Amino acid sequence: MNIKKLMGIAVIGALFCASSSAQNLKPGDLSVADFLKNPLGMNLENMSFNWKLPPAGEAAYQSAYAIEVATSKELLERAADVWQSGKTSSARSVQVPYGGRALKSCEKLWWRVKIWSKTGQESDWSEAASFETSYNTDGAQWAAHFIKSPHDPESKKRIPPAYLRRVFNIDKPVKAARLYAASKGIFTAALNGDAASDQYWPTGWTDYKKRIQIDTYDVTKLIKNGANCLSFIIADGWFSGSMSGANKECHYGTRPEIIAILKIDFADGTTLEVPTDASWKSSFGGVSAADFYDGETYDADKEPQGWKLANFDDSAWSAATASEGATPLLEARRSNPIRTMLKLKPLAITQPQKGVYVYDLGQNMVGTLELALKAWQKNSFIKIRFAEMLNKDGTLYTENYRNAESTDHIKGAPEGGRWTPLLTYHGFRYVELSNMPEGFEPSKDDLTGLVWYSDMAATGAFSCSDERLNRLQSCILWGQRGNFLSVPTDCPQRDERLGWTGDAQVFAPTAAYNMDVAAFFTKWLLDLRDTQNAKGAFSDIAPTLGWGFGNAAWGDAGVVIPWEMYLAYGGKKTLEDNYEAVKKWIEFQKSTAKDLIRPESGYGDWLQPFPKPSKDGKKGDTPKALIGTAYFARGSEIAAQMARILDKPEDAAYFEALSKDVKAAFVKRFVDADGKIECDSQTAYLLALGFDLLPENLQSRALKHLEDAIKKADGHLRTGFVGTPLLTLVLTKFGRTDLAYEILLKETYPSWLFTLAQGATTMWERWNSYTHADGFGDVAMNSFNHYAYGAIGKWMYATIGGLSAAEPGYKTALYAAEPGGGISRAETSLETPYGLASSSWKIDGGKMFWHICVAPNAYGKIIFPVADSSKVKIDGLSLTDFAKAKNLELKTQNGRPQIKSAPSGSYKIEIEL
Ligand code: BGC
Repeated sequence: MNIKKLMGIAVIGALFCASSSAQNLKPGDLSVADFLKNPLGMNLENMSFNWKLPPAGEAAYQSAYAIEVATSKELLERAADVWQSGKTSSARSVQVPYGGRALKSCEKLWWRVKIWSKTGQESDWSEAASFETSYNTDGAQWAAHFIKSPHDPESKKRIPPAYLRRVFNIDKPVKAARLYAASKGIFTAALNGDAASDQYWPTGWTDYKKRIQIDTYDVTKLIKNGANCLSFIIADGWFSGSMSGANKECHYGTRPEIIAILKIDFADGTTLEVPTDASWKSSFGGVSAADFYDGETYDADKEPQGWKLANFDDSAWSAATASEGATPLLEARRSNPIRTMLKLKPLAITQPQKGVYVYDLGQNMVGTLELALKAWQKNSFIKIRFAEMLNKDGTLYTENYRNAESTDHIKGAPEGGRWTPLLTYHGFRYVELSNMPEGFEPSKDDLTGLVWYSDMAATGAFSCSDERLNRLQSCILWGQRGNFLSVPTDCPQRDERLGWTGDAQVFAPTAAYNMDVAAFFTKWLLDLRDTQNAKGAFSDIAPTLGWGFGNAAWGDAGVVIPWEMYLAYGGKKTLEDNYEAVKKWIEFQKSTAKDLIRPESGYGDWLQPFPKPSKDGKKGDTPKALIGTAYFARGSEIAAQMARILDKPEDAAYFEALSKDVKAAFVKRFVDADGKIECDSQTAYLLALGFDLLPENLQSRALKHLEDAIKKADGHLRTGFVGTPLLTLVLTKFGRTDLAYEILLKETYPSWLFTLAQGATTMWERWNSYTHADGFGDVAMNSFNHYAYGAIGKWMYATIGGLSAAEPGYKTALYAAEPGGGISRAETSLETPYGLASSSWKIDGGKMFWHICVAPNAYGKIIFPVADSSKVKIDGLSLTDFAKAKNLELKTQNGRPQIKSAPSGSYKIEIEL
């Protein structure tokens, strides 16, 4: 992925929007299921098709489509032999269901689509796209066994990563070869010494007791005639490493294992399968330790030379242990693979102590590094430490890693003069090298930071005239990069890195702006459903490690995230997949509430600044029962909406009534006749207003109390993980965008810009994780890469930039920019399921110049940021004349004029402010 693709969406947006030709209607950008492009071995249970139309105005909107699926590209063009939908009347171009026969294991199919426009014009067929299924889609058991090292670890200790190999012979021409592999733990794979893929730890983290993801590699080019060698290194990763349990007890097992089948299709129509079984050889090698928290150690002298090649003598190696008995459920992978997405070079090198070199990569990042020294020495034992921050004396600040040692070691000289630890990961900005070989002269070429995250396409871009907010957007993006690694984690560096549900719940909407997170969350929502216990409670972390269940705002991820993904991508299937679990979660809350009031337990408004003195100040001042009851009402309301969409009217009525009752109970218990809430915290009012818990007559009063609470805090936030994501959204919803800007642009503690002024390059766990005045914050909770407060991104995109979803999946996008805060220009764009939508504006000479692009086959609802419609001109016409000329409906809502539904195209708007 190149940097232009990652960062350049906004620029590209403007170009696409401008072009429009009614002639060429040919659909493009074909993808299947969760927007997977030509997927290989991904899970296709929810098989459906997506395509985009070229930008060509309303007449070109789709009125019908035809899809064809065939077993080869040739047949696709001649006579599609798997499925022909025929001409189907429908405007739908996103998640259009497949109607052909069941997909078979290991089959590659080709597909294409054509459309008819509203005026009956027929497009050309699209280019052909493909999808290939995984190994076990028909549920067959694998003719292979999980294998592992025959050596048992001593109690509570871990064994080194196991080296595994097997030789096989090829004596005829190969047509195609696929490696299917699934692991308990993580692995690297090689065929004849070459890496089988550029992906890392593809099996990812799931509840290994329930299901394991299979990965598929196309290894056709790596097979050669004669003797071949398939090899793996398997390591603890999430399975048996220190991450998998507190106190270094393992939750899933004690030794990593792998199951794999190499399937080779020959040109003569025959097939050879090379499975993992007891015939495999096992040993240990150069990688003598590898753990996510503690790091990796490599001893070049102990690396068996040529062990990945067929001619290596493995007679001294032991037989691998093959597991007998039931295999856990193996399923085609749902999640995006982890890849090196960016590379960072050091900006500076310092030497805080003799022989200790600190390299500054300029950016807090997550991943690994490549070490490429000029001179390696046989007997050197280099120590590599990592840190997010430096102490005043320039040494590494690592106290916040807590028990994670996060240290790599390399002994001797690696083959080829380069070394990259591949079986661990770190969160860091600084790299420290020590124990260097004699005569070592540091250079910026010594190392490169390899930024790893789940490979998700960049979809959104935000920028504006205020450089501080651009830096904030960058911090939010880096928070996402650093923590979307197979599962959404709270932090990537200390002895935690878990799939904390509350953090993910508040950040998911912002995440869906920055990147295409559809597949990522489809997979993780399954992890979350896998945690649900018999009573219906979700775990606080997914995958679960067996502790922590049923807490407000955390467990609610199981309701909120499916809903947010539905809004962002429009897939009803997300709602179908999660609906039963949502119902159980609501029932769990009902059955454990007293008079519909939730108990006083949970994490509260986690890490709210300036808490009143209490036993556990980390949980803030808002009663946990209040937070729980607010979320209970909100969840029931979402459940009612889901039920309506899924055509379950009885359920919908039930949840609607429940939500009303919970709201009434909330008001009775917590709110007085003046709209005042007992604890008088900002978060209490934000929940009440944000989740529509109050009757109309109390709303303006509660808003007044919220404004007072903000005034009392001198215009600052007093909110934690629960309240902060709602703060600006609620103020905008109730017409106080001015106050939202004021809070956002505060530079004093606690605020986003305060954190930036202390040197942040990512989101921090606390607003004062570090301050120039007082140094480092409470070390017990002091992550410098914690995305929760990055949830502000949603408001920046929607209100500053002016772009959000008015209908699920952006079938109608909402354009509602509200300039303020002294900002003179903003640009926002988003690659929606229908294509590129963008909103950019600038203010010049008392006028706002607003340029909007509405995506093809989609609509735009435009709300103008002034009350007087005579101040608005579009494409040179007054608003009324423009609406008349284009036959568009005008409305006024909350005193603001709006166009209800503008078709695809570009609009140049001029507003007198
Ligand atoms: C994590 C948080 C998480 C919290 C629950 C912490 O250790 O880092 O982000 O949500 O626990 O209170």
